[in-house]
Amino acid sequence: MSVIILIGFMGCGKSTFGRKLAKQLNYQFMDADDVIEAKYKLKIKDIFSQFGEGHFRKLEEKFILELGSQDNIVLATGGGMPCYGENMNLLNEIGTTFYLQRSVPELVHRLINAKRPRPLVQGKNQEELTQFINDLLPKREVFYLKAEHILDRNQQNPLFVQMLLRQKSDIASSD
Ligand code: S3P
Repeated sequence: MSVIILIGFMGCGKSTFGRKLAKQLNYQFMDADDVIEAKYKLKIKDIFSQFGEGHFRKLEEKFILELGSQDNIVLATGGGMPCYGENMNLLNEIGTTFYLQRSVPELVHRLINAKRPRPLVQGKNQEELTQFINDLLPKREVFYLKAEHILDRNQQNPLFVQMLLRQKSDIASSD
């Protein structure tokens, strides 16, 4: 089991949890937004403001298509990445996908307190943010729920994920 892919709404904790998980498994951690920023030498917010969201979505698709064969990595995707084109199916082919599910109030709380700038929610107050997530999350969950594993808040710990991965490799080796 060598590619672990974390998906979920902005602010659900993909990067923080991904780093912890990678450390525990002794895998490399990769954050798709960081890779895109480094490759194009532009912050995500500047890609959005200079070229528009549609362009960013193309860069995300390109990132997946160019991922190639990776070994022993934990990949944190951007919150919208699985929700466009064939991306979710591709992610499921590339690795074991985990949806980090969080409730709307939790996401609002985490995003209000977040340091990382996110163009889609920038400048929104608590009420606007709640409305935005209430509208968007059900549309995005159509894709997120195609993940191989869905982790609720209490299951979002490295030991639980390791147990799931062990179960999967036990099943594969007994086939
Ligand atoms: C986005 C989520 C962000 C980033 C971009 C768009 C989205 O990543 O890719 O701002 O559409 O949900 P995080 O989920 O890491 O915040």
